[in-house]
Amino acid sequence: MERFYTTTAIDYVNGAPHIGHAYEKILTDVIYRHFSQRCEDAYFLTGTDEHGIKIQKTSAAQGITPKELCDINAQKFQDCWKALDVNYSQFIRTTDKEHEEVVQKIFKKLVDKGDIYKNSYTGLYCSGCEAFLSEKDLTEDGLCPDHLKKPEVVSEENYFFKLTKYKDAIIKHIKTHPDFIVPAFRANEVLNQLENIEDISVSRAKSNVSWGIPVLGDDEQVIYVWIDALSNYITALGYNPDGESGEKFNKYWPATVQVIGKDILKFHSIYWIAILMALELPLPEHILAHGWITIDQTKMSKSLGNVISPESILKAFNLEHPDALRYYMASAAPCGKDGNYSDEDFKEKVNAHIANSMGNLLNRTLSMLVKYFDGDIKPEFKVQSELFDKALETVKAVKHHFDYFEVQEASQKIIELVDITNKYVTDNAPWTLAKEGQMDKCGEVLTNVLEVMCVISSLIYPFCPNIAQAMAEQLSYDLSIKLDDLSCNNLKPGHLIDKEDIKPVFLRMDSELADKGKGK
Ligand code: ME8
Ligand code: MG
Repeated sequence: MERFYTTTAIDYVNGAPHIGHAYEKILTDVIYRHFSQRCEDAYFLTGTDEHGIKIQKTSAAQGITPKELCDINAQKFQDCWKALDVNYSQFIRTTDKEHEEVVQKIFKKLVDKGDIYKNSYTGLYCSGCEAFLSEKDLTEDGLCPDHLKKPEVVSEENYFFKLTKYKDAIIKHIKTHPDFIVPAFRANEVLNQLENIEDISVSRAKSNVSWGIPVLGDDEQVIYVWIDALSNYITALGYNPDGESGEKFNKYWPATVQVIGKDILKFHSIYWIAILMALELPLPEHILAHGWITIDQTKMSKSLGNVISPESILKAFNLEHPDALRYYMASAAPCGKDGNYSDEDFKEKVNAHIANSMGNLLNRTLSMLVKYFDGDIKPEFKVQSELFDKALETVKAVKHHFDYFEVQEASQKIIELVDITNKYVTDNAPWTLAKEGQMDKCGEVLTNVLEVMCVISSLIYPFCPNIAQAMAEQLSYDLSIKLDDLSCNNLKPGHLIDKEDIKPVFLRMDSELADKGKGK
């Protein structure tokens, strides 16, 4: 694999980021970091979605301009991703001048092609979805099922996109590419939606929505926020509808995987695909629709007051880096299924997997190496073991899961290897071997464990980059190695570590030490 391009949904900036937004960005960052360990050139795009009636209304309610609201909140999203070590390559804002210009050109191209036409229309608009809903989408009480709000009746003359022209081609693409929509069980849902699609309105009257990109040559209309938003995936790369596109576009498009929430799958697997077909561009390889994150098994909502900010979690648990939260979130749900956040479960899982199983294993093995061998690895310690086979099997299994974007499943494989290695230590009892004077055998056991710890640090890196770095430092191991080059031949004979350089890589979240260390 030479290049890899991944994107996330771009978030509406009518509020601050919450743990649901964070789930998606962490998930994508973990996928991105994993594939960075497998290919030469990986690229990761995220950003913010800044136009539309929702932003217009929210800013008006706050007595500021839409652009002021966007600037304040776009910064909050960027700060949050920084706090979570979400290592994106590029952050696009849909109010960026270059983006706006290309969106206008895309719109014009589709008008010129005859794929966009004008029509008058009456429909039910949900500002939460930024979409027209049909009667049958609504609840019994006539509410939007996602936002539990009554949609507005909108009567406008709008531009329409000939979605129906592409219906058969999209159905064919989905049926002939069973791995296009991930997880596959969602493909049927999309195929059902495709049965009833109609052409869609792709502009709004400026008299009703002023906060949008103007349609070129029509002062009365602004471009529909979803056409604007979806285009970000290609405008960010320098796509040019009228001529030569930029180098980044030629290098990275089509995307390898576009990560989104299940609520916006229709926009990505139908509307977006139709737009790409109309522009005669290649389609993304995979659309990954992740599930929904609940808090204590309850849907997050402003009215319930249970919206959690990711930074508040880092603060509440006094965490120096985001690895614990990254690990917990990325492994919160099986591929495509819903997941849940709870403080208790967070603490328990991270303490068990990261502090106790993984962290302690490294700590006590290094301590024994110092105690029995002054921290030296002797050449005669190196003996091939079944444990190495397990480690290399795990590398294969983790790669396989990531090929299917099964991130939770991959994390479980890594922790399984940690458990197997712990069992290897217990079974071989190096402390007993030392007591009995079987020093070569004792050294062999410790060396084997440390070799496998190198592999584990590479595998855990996408989830926990800071902890992986701390492990690698104590092992004098180079984390930049590609996964395909991983072996159990990482440690050089010689002096590895001194007593004072052995440090726990992660302290239990409720330990006194963790509290003291951070001046609590
Ligand atoms: O939909 N759990 O923006 P958005 C998991 N601007 N994911 C969640 C979530 C939760 N509780 N809440 C939101 C938009 N998300 C559009 C996207 S893309 C061209 C335009 C996810 O701020 C949601 O599924 O409402 C979506 O993928 C992302 O956060 C942004 O949601
Ligand atoms: Mg939403």
